[in-house]
Amino acid sequence: MSAPTPPTAELHLHVEGTIEAELLVRLADRDGLPLPSRDPAVLRERYEHFADLQAFLDVYYANLAVLRTEEDFHELATGYLDRARAAGVRRAEVFFDPQTHVGRGVPLEAVIRGLSSAFAAAEETHGVSAALILCFLRDLGPEAAEEILRAALPLREHFIGVGLDSAEVGYPPSLFTRVYAMAASEGLHRVAHAGEEGGPDYVREALDLLHVARVDHGIRAMEDPELVARLRAERIPLTVCPLSNVYLRAVDALPDHPLPRMLDQGLVATVNSDDPAYFGGYVDENYRAVARDLGLDRARLAQLARNSVDAAFAPAEDKRRWHGEIAEWTARAG
Ligand code: ADE
Ligand code: ZN
Repeated sequence: MSAPTPPTAELHLHVEGTIEAELLVRLADRDGLPLPSRDPAVLRERYEHFADLQAFLDVYYANLAVLRTEEDFHELATGYLDRARAAGVRRAEVFFDPQTHVGRGVPLEAVIRGLSSAFAAAEETHGVSAALILCFLRDLGPEAAEEILRAALPLREHFIGVGLDSAEVGYPPSLFTRVYAMAASEGLHRVAHAGEEGGPDYVREALDLLHVARVDHGIRAMEDPELVARLRAERIPLTVCPLSNVYLRAVDALPDHPLPRMLDQGLVATVNSDDPAYFGGYVDENYRAVARDLGLDRARLAQLARNSVDAAFAPAEDKRRWHGEIAEWTARAG
């Protein structure tokens, strides 16, 4: 009997979104910090009623007050990697939001070194290949993005790319053209959240102005047939997060999710968990949910997993191995 979900690459995961309620309470107790409740079950219940992305971000940023030291960041990343291994993750390309931590007075070095030391050990201890992508908070604007990139460049060997996240509408990709050009000149991979709450124009700007290799979310691209044709022709991967889209009301309910249409139309769609501590599950739970509620069979789950490996910024030799593991998974009877 093989695992119910395929080996996969996880390409859209915010490490700050993996802070489980138990860890939150433990760190808050240690530092005597306030929380709305000390009961993890009560904290988790609050996560089920986000009105939109901003309502979630307000809770997400407030909770991060408990992360203070290099050890905290190391522990956070290690917790994710433990769970990712159990979920069948072979490769994790993980977002982090340095501006929010530096803004609270945490040294940038503590953030990056804490996460990076956990990731460096991950291949040996967890069998997971892991790399960091530094995200700019779009609502802090382009100058702040340039400032954090400049501050992080002395630690350049600890991250492989840049991304763009936080409140989307009102902060279009065009604002960040210059900082993405800086990142390109440093040889960094580039991705950006677009088309989660923002419309197809945000996706187009991310492609044309930021020259992203992947689009994070991108589900609203489905409203624009010409853009869909372009994404298919250029084989631009979309890092889709089905449970997140339900929790943040980007879709009404999982059975309404456009993922099957994305596959039918030949898009390089992938499945990811976004902020699993808040949105009801890790990547395996996202695969299980789309199998159940969208009727995706094993062949379609395997297609999603192959897409994730194709879309990863990983060495070709590793990708060949992971493709082999997905083929084995497909061949085994469920
Ligand atoms: N930061 C963490 N999760 C996010 C999401 N789903 N969209 C934008 N920014 C985020
Ligand atoms: Zn995200």
